[in-house]
This record gives sequence, C-alpha cells and structure tokens, in this order.
Amino acid sequence: MSLAKKQDQTVAVPNDLEAFWMPFTPNRSFKAKPRLISRSQDMHYYTPEGRAIIDGSAALWCVNAGHNRKPIVEAIQKSAAELDYAPAFQFAHPMSFELASRIADLAPKTMDHVFFTNSGSEAVDTALKVAIAYHHAKGQDSRTRLIGRERGYHGVGFGGISVGGMVANRRFFGAMLPGVDHLSHTYNREHQQFTKGEPEWGAHLADDLEKIVALHDAATIAAVIVEPMSGSTGVLPPPKGYLQRLRQICDKYGILLIFDEVITGFGRLGAAFAAERYGVTPDIMTFAKGVTSGSVPMGGIVVRDEIYNAFMNGPEHMPEIFHGYTYSAHPLACAAGLATLNVYRDEDLFNRAKKLEPYWADAVMSLKDEPGVLDIRQVGLTVGIDLASKPDAFGKRGYEAMGHGFHEEGIMLRGMADTLAMSPPLIVTEAQIDEMVDKTRRVIKAVM
Ligand SMILES: Cc1ncc(COP(=O)(O)O)c(C=O)c1O
Repeated sequence: MSLAKKQDQTVAVPNDLEAFWMPFTPNRSFKAKPRLISRSQDMHYYTPEGRAIIDGSAALWCVNAGHNRKPIVEAIQKSAAELDYAPAFQFAHPMSFELASRIADLAPKTMDHVFFTNSGSEAVDTALKVAIAYHHAKGQDSRTRLIGRERGYHGVGFGGISVGGMVANRRFFGAMLPGVDHLSHTYNREHQQFTKGEPEWGAHLADDLEKIVALHDAATIAAVIVEPMSGSTGVLPPPKGYLQRLRQICDKYGILLIFDEVITGFGRLGAAFAAERYGVTPDIMTFAKGVTSGSVPMGGIVVRDEIYNAFMNGPEHMPEIFHGYTYSAHPLACAAGLATLNVYRDEDLFNRAKKLEPYWADAVMSLKDEPGVLDIRQVGLTVGIDLASKPDAFGKRGYEAMGHGFHEEGIMLRGMADTLAMSPPLIVTEAQIDEMVDKTRRVIKAVM
C-alpha cells in the first residue's frame, strides 16, 4: 500500500489482529485462537463476552493491589485532568518528589535516593550505568565489568540482555555489551526439589564471584546484578545464606551489589522489598511493576546515599548525570504510584502477603503428585511448577496449559516454556487460592 493511500484511510481502517506485532507472544498461534481481555476488577479479568478470568499471575507479576482499585483509578483520572505532562529535566512537579520520598521510606535504611524510569528494562540499564559512573566519580575508571547470573532476567535493553542469562533473549541480538561475566544459577533439582521457601542447598554458589575476581581482578569489576528471586526463569528462590554471602564478597572487593527487584518489590515476598525479607541491603535496587500496581508504566532505581553523594560535585549549573527519559516521573505515573502506595499501606498488603504465605505454600505444594509435575518452587506469594516437556516440542505443554487455563478454566497462568508460574494480586483470599489451585490441577491433568 502506498504511503498516500494509508494517509487517506481516516475512516475504514480494519480492526483485525494483524497490525499489532505482539511482544513475547507466538503471534500466529495467538491470532488463530486469541485470548482477549477487555475489563478488569479486583481479582478478575473479563473477556469481551463477559467471561470472568481469575488472575493467578497478577498479570505480568505487577498488579499487586488488585485490578482497577478505586483510589488508584480516581488518582489517575484527577491527575490526567490537572497536569498532562511536565518535564523532569530542569523542571519538575511536586508529586515526583513526594513519590520518591515514599519509595525511599520503604527501601532499606541508607537507600534514600530515587531515579525514575518508565519500565524495568530502563531501570536495569540505569542501574548498570549508575554503577559504572559511580566508580568513575570515585576515580576508579577501570571498574567497568558487569556480572550477571545464568537464568537471570533483567529486561530487554542491551544492558539487560547482556547481564541476563536467558539464551532465547540473547542469541539473535549480536555481541551485546563487552566485559560481562555470569555467576552460575542457583537451581539444582536433585538438592532442592519441592522446597517450600528458600532451599537449604546452594549458598556456596555465591563463591563463583571469587572465581571471577580471581580471573579479572576486582579493580575491573563495577557491579554484580541479581534478582533476589529469579521470576521469569521459573521462580528460583535464593538458597539460604546465598544473598548474604554475595553481599560479603562484594564488600570485600568494593564491588557494587544491584538487586533487580522489578518483581520482588512492593510486597511480592511479604515485605516491601526482598532486601528486607533477606536482611541484605544492596547498593542499588531496581523497581517497576508493583510501584503503580501495573496501572501506568513506571520504573526506577533506589540508591544508597553514598552513591548519590558521589555524583554531587562538579559545576553547579551542570547536570550531575547525563541520563534520563522524557517520561521519567510522568505525572500520571506519579499519581498512580502515590495512590498505589496508599492502598498498600492502608490495607497492610505486604503483611497480608506474609501472613498468607504458609497457606499459599501448602495449597500449591498439593499439586506435587499430579501427573508430569517435576518440581514446585514457592516463595512469598509466587510459585513455579515444572511440567514434563513433550518429547518433541519443548515449551508446548506450558503453552497449551496457559491456553487451556484461559479458555476452559477461566484462570490466567503464566507459561514460561514448560513451567507454569502463579503470583496472585496480594488481595487474594484463601478461598480464591483454593479456587486457583483447583483450576490449575485440572489444567495439569488436561495437558499431561
Ligand atoms: C527482574 C526483572 N527485571 C526487569 C524486567 C523488565 O521490566 P520491563 O518489562 O518493565 O521492561 C522484568 C520484567 O519482567 C523483570 O522481571
């Protein structure tokens, strides 16, 4: 079609499924049998025909406060009517400072400064850049190497896929960042199968960092980035003592520790951040998703005071860091963020998640004897259920389970290859947990 013809189409543009190239989706399979959702409320989605779908995954691990919560909706509506946009470069609106203070207040002590982005991927790239620039500010220019971990997911920017450890997200995208190494992942089925919470086995794997230091010298290493719990590769809780050990090794060598808390932030593990659950304070922490309960895109990083202060020098008329996004601290996102944090506080949702954890753990572990269930890992209000793969088609069983869940059982499950993940909104009730587990049980029986 010519450009001119396209521009003439002011009325009759067909609304079919073709134009939208869907992210992280098998487009042809989806478009042959779509899973459409058009409305949501509290624990449920609704299809265009009005069928209820219970949200077993907080959508993409993000709707922690539940869907379309009135205070959040109203704050967004009010903000949109009052201030459409304000630049965060050189100007600012009051809500951005208020939200930064509120997030810093939830973060561990000494982490008091917040930089806003629009997504988790941008938060990760921001964290990596800040780490390298921090060492430069301290006169340690040789510290540029970044260490990620196998089976890590840190979004899809070039920084994030470089430190990430998911082969499918890396293999077609060229050389990526130079100077990146990876720690081993922490999952071992033989030692950890069907563990509730953090496995006993695996703290020693943090010592991988010692090997990398021995290979490259600590003076070349800027930072280590890990998800406290790896979500996207199937819910891998940290072994007991692992994060503490990583912290000690980082301290020993002056390496910054970055926690990617895009999933684990805002109550998912029964505390404001995983850092609090594990009593380990990183130097930089990313967040996104739960900060607005998914209602408006937003992400960011929280840094230790020492990091922020290291940048606060140089000429006072110049920016201290040449980094930022047009939509950093967008008014709509700040309004949504403030209202969301109020819901978390007023309904004590992080503690609610903590109290529900034992019930959740028992309920999901009851699936362990279903056919083809190879392992179940649980921590906080999350679970990963490994299903036996089809001999000829890795990932197909998980895809079928997700589709069967949606179309036949009315549940949203995350299918990550042949692992099913659940992470419900934190407002979930015990009865709804039972309902989700029953539905998932039937889904597993149906696809095995
Ligand atoms: C740990 C982690 N980091 C980063 C990201 C990327 O976030 P986004 O999709 O908002 O870019 C995700 C997304 O799931 C994530 O789980």
